[in-house]
Amino acid sequence: MVQAGFLLAALVSVSHGSYVDPAVLDQCSGYDLEDATWQGTSFKANLILRPEGCAVFGPDISTLSLEVVYETETRIHLKIADPHNARYEVPESVLVRPSSSGDIVPDNASIQFNYTASPFSFSISRTSTEEVLFTTANHPLIYESQYLRVKTSLPQDPSIYGLGEHTNPFQLPLNTTLTLWSRDAYSVPNGTNLYGNHPVYFEHRTTGTHGVFLLNSNGMDIKLNKTESGEPTLEYNVIGGVLDSYFLAGSESSPVEVAKQYAEVVGLPAEVPYWSFGLHQCRFGYQNFVDVANVITNYSAAEIPLETMWTDIDYMDGRKIFTVDPNYFPLDRMRQIVQYLHDHGQKYILMTDPAVALQEGYEPYDRGTEMDVWLKMPNGSAVIALVWPGVTVYPDWFHPDIQEYWSQEFEQFYNPGQGLDIDGAWIDMNEPSNFCVLPCEDPYQQAQEQALPPPRTSLPPDHNAPIFGNSTSASKRELAKRDDLLDPPYAINNAAGELSSKTAWTNATSANGLSQYNTHNLYGTLMSNVTRNAMLNRRPGLRTLVITRSTFAGAGNYVGKWLGDNVSTWYHYRISIAGMLGMASVYQVPMVGSDICGYAGNTTETLCARWAMLGGFYPFMRNHNSDTSISQEFYLWPTVAEAARKVLDMRYRLMDYIYTAFHTASLDGTPVLQPLWFQYPADKATYSIDLQFFYGDSILVSPVTDENSTSVNIYLPNDTFYDFTSLTPIKGAGQQVTLTDIGFTDIPVFIKGGRVLPLRVQSTMTTVELRKEDFEFVVAPRADGTAAGRLYVDDGVSIKQNATTEVAMSFANSKLEVSGSFGYNSGVNVVRVRVLGVEAKPGSVYVNNREVKGDDYDEANKVLDVPVGLPLNQDFSVSFS
Ligand SMILES: *[C@@H]1O[C@H](CO)[C@@H](O)[C@H](O)[C@H]1NC(C)=O
Ligand SMILES: *[C@@H]1O[C@H](CO)[C@@H](O)[C@H](O)[C@H]1NC(C)=O
Ligand SMILES: *[C@@H]1O[C@H](CO)[C@@H](O)[C@H](O)[C@H]1NC(C)=O
Ligand SMILES: *[C@@H]1O[C@H](CO)[C@@H](O)[C@H](O)[C@H]1NC(C)=O
Ligand SMILES: *[C@@H]1O[C@H](CO)[C@@H](O)[C@H](O)[C@H]1NC(C)=O
Ligand SMILES: *[C@@H]1O[C@H](CO)[C@@H](O)[C@H](O)[C@H]1NC(C)=O
Ligand SMILES: *[C@@H]1O[C@H](CO)[C@@H](O)[C@H](O)[C@H]1NC(C)=O
Ligand SMILES: *[C@@H]1O[C@H](CO)[C@@H](O)[C@H](O)[C@H]1NC(C)=O
Ligand SMILES: *[C@@H]1O[C@H](CO)[C@@H](O)[C@H](O)[C@H]1NC(C)=O
Ligand SMILES: *[C@@H]1O[C@H](CO)[C@@H](O)[C@H](O)[C@H]1NC(C)=O
Repeated sequence: MVQAGFLLAALVSVSHGSYVDPAVLDQCSGYDLEDATWQGTSFKANLILRPEGCAVFGPDISTLSLEVVYETETRIHLKIADPHNARYEVPESVLVRPSSSGDIVPDNASIQFNYTASPFSFSISRTSTEEVLFTTANHPLIYESQYLRVKTSLPQDPSIYGLGEHTNPFQLPLNTTLTLWSRDAYSVPNGTNLYGNHPVYFEHRTTGTHGVFLLNSNGMDIKLNKTESGEPTLEYNVIGGVLDSYFLAGSESSPVEVAKQYAEVVGLPAEVPYWSFGLHQCRFGYQNFVDVANVITNYSAAEIPLETMWTDIDYMDGRKIFTVDPNYFPLDRMRQIVQYLHDHGQKYILMTDPAVALQEGYEPYDRGTEMDVWLKMPNGSAVIALVWPGVTVYPDWFHPDIQEYWSQEFEQFYNPGQGLDIDGAWIDMNEPSNFCVLPCEDPYQQAQEQALPPPRTSLPPDHNAPIFGNSTSASKRELAKRDDLLDPPYAINNAAGELSSKTAWTNATSANGLSQYNTHNLYGTLMSNVTRNAMLNRRPGLRTLVITRSTFAGAGNYVGKWLGDNVSTWYHYRISIAGMLGMASVYQVPMVGSDICGYAGNTTETLCARWAMLGGFYPFMRNHNSDTSISQEFYLWPTVAEAARKVLDMRYRLMDYIYTAFHTASLDGTPVLQPLWFQYPADKATYSIDLQFFYGDSILVSPVTDENSTSVNIYLPNDTFYDFTSLTPIKGAGQQVTLTDIGFTDIPVFIKGGRVLPLRVQSTMTTVELRKEDFEFVVAPRADGTAAGRLYVDDGVSIKQNATTEVAMSFANSKLEVSGSFGYNSGVNVVRVRVLGVEAKPGSVYVNNREVKGDDYDEANKVLDVPVGLPLNQDFSVSFS
């Protein structure tokens, strides 16, 4: 089928991944642009293959259609498709295309499209500066059935971020191939394709930040490299679909704008319940219900606030979803645990995998078979895989009845009356993962060889064992015919080898006719959506928390994400920050964190202590580890327990601050975590920093990053900061600073000058109690003496709020003005205002222009403490002179 092209000699197959000399591809002849027409905001043309062609991975498509639309002042949509044969495109049901504003005058837009007709190339440039942001000049377009290639030049030393999920530094090195193909990437190995797929990048320059999103779910390699003449380039090598790109102008002043513009395309992040910001505890390897209950008891005894207990697949009977093991995790005792948690203001979450055990008589399998909702092979039989319970089938998330099936299973098993009343859902293995080794001819035999499901290694507990208080411890069919869905001519650099290796067959099809070849990268996101709907169905009107492993662009609309099965090493501790910044600052998946103290391998006391503190500033804070690792609950070592208590005290006092940031993100896409360059876009020294970050837009977190070290070199931008604990002002000089004597229970945290923080006055053991605590406002002025902040309060759980409280705080000329709308009655007070960096004790202090007594001035730390004592239901002011 593959025509022998003149370039095939240059193609070398390496172990996995195809290598073609880039210089040779640049000699392909490309296309000529013809029949160009402009109509309003839209430009259309045909692209005609030039005579020589390219035929590097199959025949070239001879005629293409180009359409460019100025959708908004800041967004250009460029699509190149085959006008004669419909090709696969990411379905609208998965990603609703953004609407155009329609009234743009292209010349006035922030970015411009331009082209050269022969050979065809195009560019996108910034209108105000005329800088070229993206250009395919000298790098011809290649468009073949199973190979698409677009390549742009980049400036020298480009600052590029995104294109995950991967383990690269946040600022991408210019010598890397990023492969997008969802993979169960145990131990999150360096330089390989991982669980999720987010083909978007932001490029930052001192002149502005722009973004480029390729809406394509096929496997791809994105190569960052230099040409022989030293010109940096970014090259997409995609094995299907269409070229469907969104160019985002961002802005010249604030990188936050490009993030907001990306949210306009893929959607805004879902709001999560207030409680989900509490501490989560999980592990693979809890042997039985007594273990689970003891962990809950021990957290409480150690006075470490445990908000949510989790249980991994251990609870299942033979590792089958929607079952409990009657001997180890009997339903009545598990229900007792859930009841206990709920009685104590705590929550419970269980793991649900997608794969369903292929066992007749197992009701979830029988019901799914009856409804015919499994992913199918081309011959109509269900795809057979090997996952935890042994031989399994996979739900087809595109099947018209899949929601009904999944919601019904959730309702039944997670039923508050007879089942396990979970508060959130955890979905794993949804790349989808498959243990069957290719060619996987006999999954039953492999199940035996791999001992699946694994036998229990401990004896069951006494069913009546006492717990709690008693323990010390598209026209897709043609495509399927035409294309090689199993072994395409261009092999992406999939670390698992062949495309179907360790996952579903890529020639498997969904009820809508789409093949896994095209939709593989969507599987986790589809499951996320269906699972979220099933959870919302159980508790109508209430928000939920769903945490997934595999994601695609837009997943943040439905779910949060953990960074997968990492290892208990300092390296994984450090790269968790870059991984998290990718999700939260670029991909719009803000509810993110990595497994604290590490999943695989054994942690150490000091690693776990440092990681507990770093994890206190993950949006999603969960301790989780593997069944073969030593236990690592925070209470097990005195240092770790102390570190956890200290950081949870900070985290809980800051909870309404981060909750407010999430609310803002859900309205406009402002990232809830920010790299330093988002806040200091002109300061080049910040561009590569990924071991420090902002939690929200005001809290600078700078953890110690090396083993056994009690010091860290950090960068402090030219700005005013305040130590979060002592509140002392610290002047940043735009230089590296060495912080020393940072004990294993401390983490350097600074407040950025120019902000007003709403803090709860003290932390508590649960978020239910936290919501009854009063507030204080901490004013942290910048050098010019001004500061501003916001507070958003609602009931914490409802999707539609009847009443909310929204407060703006602004400080200037020694006066704080607090004003807002106070629809939600939180029943708490603002007890005090603390103003930082006050040089001398003021003569007089006023609340609402009335002089107050009882204020206090801390000369050592320059903190003015003003008693307020007003209910959070009114405007007020605090001033001093
Ligand atoms: C999520 O499910 C809803 C309801 O079935 C559907 O309308 C929507 O298209 C789905 N979105 C995705 C991403 O699958
Ligand atoms: C568009 O490209 C042509 C060359 O192809 C160039 O002459 C022209 O100046 C460009 N226009 C803009 C606005 O960049
Ligand atoms: C670029 O990557 C290749 C392959 O991984 C490696 O051999 C080479 O040393 C790298 N070069 C630089 C400058 O990092
Ligand atoms: C991963 O790569 C980083 C940076 O190249 C290196 O420092 C680290 O040692 C590697 N880690 C592992 C586990 O290979
Ligand atoms: C990067 O580009 C150089 C120079 O063109 C080439 O020799 C090298 O093979 C390229 N690396 C990759 C991974 O494509
Ligand atoms: C503790 O165990 C005793 C004896 O088994 C039982 O009577 C008591 O109810 C248990 N206490 C709690 C709090 O479960
Ligand atoms: C799909 O892949 C399976 C596994 O290799 C193979 O047995 C089957 O023939 C393939 N079917 C088609 C239509 O390609
Ligand atoms: C972790 O510790 C356990 C118990 O000491 C040991 O059996 C296991 O081999 C260790 N794992 C690793 C990866 O070192
Ligand atoms: C850290 O200290 C421990 C205990 O003294 C030691 O075993 C380990 O080798 C040290 N690690 C490094 C990187 O120095
Ligand atoms: C620091 O910022 C101040 C105020 O913006 C400015 O006057 C000063 O020149 C800056 N210093 C450095 C070293 O950039």
